[in-house]
Amino acid sequence: MSGTVDIRLIVNGEAVAESIEPRLTLVDFLRETLGLTGTHVGCEHGVCGACTVRVNDMIVRGCLTLAVQCDGTRIETIEGISDAGDIADLQDAFRRRNALQCGFCTPAMLLAAQELLARGGVPNRDMIREYISGNYCRCTGYQAIVDAVESVAEERASNLRAKR
Ligand code: FES
Ligand code: FES
Repeated sequence: MSGTVDIRLIVNGEAVAESIEPRLTLVDFLRETLGLTGTHVGCEHGVCGACTVRVNDMIVRGCLTLAVQCDGTRIETIEGISDAGDIADLQDAFRRRNALQCGFCTPAMLLAAQELLARGGVPNRDMIREYISGNYCRCTGYQAIVDAVESVAEERASNLRAKR
């Protein structure tokens, strides 16, 4: 189609090739073109963090990234990360600690938490708060989210020690 741009990328491990409008944002591409609606759209201005996805192993704001900029990249959304089992402990901790209510912020919050925990060690509560500060939650007051992330950091560190 004229006016469109061809892109090829890997999304959740699957090769994707599409012709898209140059102005299409990454989050709209994922949600509307690929049907991956686990990534949410809130402010569309880079403020709330609901649109967080992973591009080449780094989390980005899907509403501030154009899909054409992702040509040749590897993208992971909450669907792929969840199916891979990489955050099963975090998801479980969020459930156990009541760290989600409406769930709107949760996929992005899990991706941000996973990125922090992937650095290793046990971040203190201030570090956790700082790291998730780009992700807004309208429901929980954040306390339970910090509890959940902290508990997983401690569990992972303890499992690592047990393996040594
Ligand atoms: S929708 Fe992207 S930061 Fe709010
Ligand atoms: S659980 Fe509702 S916005 Fe976070």
